[in-house]
Amino acid sequence: MTRFAFLLIFVALGLAAAPVRADDQVARGEYLFRAGGCLGCHTAPGGAALAGGRALVTPMGTFYGPNITSDPEHGIGRWTDEEFVRALHRGVGRGGEQLYPVFPYPSFTKITDADAKAIKAYIFTLPPSSQPSKPHDVPFPFNIRLLLIGWKWLNFSPGVFKPDEAKTPEWNRGAYLVEALAHCGECHTPRNLMGGIERSRALSGTAKGPDMKPAPNITPDPETGIGKWNQNDLAYFLESGIDPDGDVTGSVMDEVIQNTTSKLTSDDRRAIAAYVLSLPPVVHKVGRK
Ligand code: HEC
Ligand code: HEC
Repeated sequence: MTRFAFLLIFVALGLAAAPVRADDQVARGEYLFRAGGCLGCHTAPGGAALAGGRALVTPMGTFYGPNITSDPEHGIGRWTDEEFVRALHRGVGRGGEQLYPVFPYPSFTKITDADAKAIKAYIFTLPPSSQPSKPHDVPFPFNIRLLLIGWKWLNFSPGVFKPDEAKTPEWNRGAYLVEALAHCGECHTPRNLMGGIERSRALSGTAKGPDMKPAPNITPDPETGIGKWNQNDLAYFLESGIDPDGDVTGSVMDEVIQNTTSKLTSDDRRAIAAYVLSLPPVVHKVGRK
């Protein structure tokens, strides 16, 4: 065959493959977007999807998830892929401003570049909204974004998730979902006085969880955690919100299940359960337990 014929075949293959690849990326992005729980924090109750305005109450004040639709004026329509990835990985806005860690980039930093770009591709297929983002209601000194440079230095370790070759693919998939996308630790891990996550007590619960309410210990300690649950129990809970005693979960976990974990494949739920139940048990009594 001549070189020209080869070239033609390549061009034809390229043309045939390109649109399929873009669709694949959007479909993958939709799945990852759900796993990341982006919708909840960036959508006001009853508001347009991702148009912002959802209040997030923290010890530092009340933050409002901004508009992250593809609107060029009030959303992220002008953001490049690189700017978007940088926001997730480094907590830096388009203009270089420091972002507050209520946006869970201490977890999202672990998302792979390809997954982050797929999420953006999916977001850009959703309808834009021209609703302006609501300013945060955060008192001095927390309203000074530059202070976040010091906060990051003490409390933030950037870096994409690295699989542990010694573990099974299921465990690694679970670890990636829990640590990076589904950011379970952002609610279930205790924080230090500066609001930084205490990695040494990962997932052991906190009295001051989301909206200043308790989030339980989900390490496998039998008394203060979920050590009496098996992989099926936890996977079923993440699908249905029903625990092994037949009780239905409440508050924000209900939302996590509705928006996120019930939308995952059952393999992914089982992977999350396998990973969580493999963690070191931490004795830490939170709330009613
Ligand atoms: C726990 C709530 C929460 C979740 C979950 C969340 N965000 Fe956010 N996000 C925020 C808040 C609050 C801000 C504003 C931070 C600031 O002003 O410093 C923000 C900021 C952003 C920004 C920067 C916007 C700008 O105008 O500077 C982007 C981009 C973003 N989020 C994308 C995402 C994506 C993608 C996901 C899902 C993978 C996601 N967020 C999940 C709360 C959240
Ligand atoms: C936005 C915050 C938030 C996120 C993210 C979150 N949780 Fe929760 N979770 C909670 C809260 C709050 C409760 C307590 C709900 C209640 O009061 O019934 C809870 C309850 C639970 C329970 C029930 C524990 C018990 O003892 O009854 C399990 C198990 C659980 N979460 C696992 C997870 C896993 C796994 C993830 C990540 C895939 C996750 N959660 C992500 C806030 C969160």
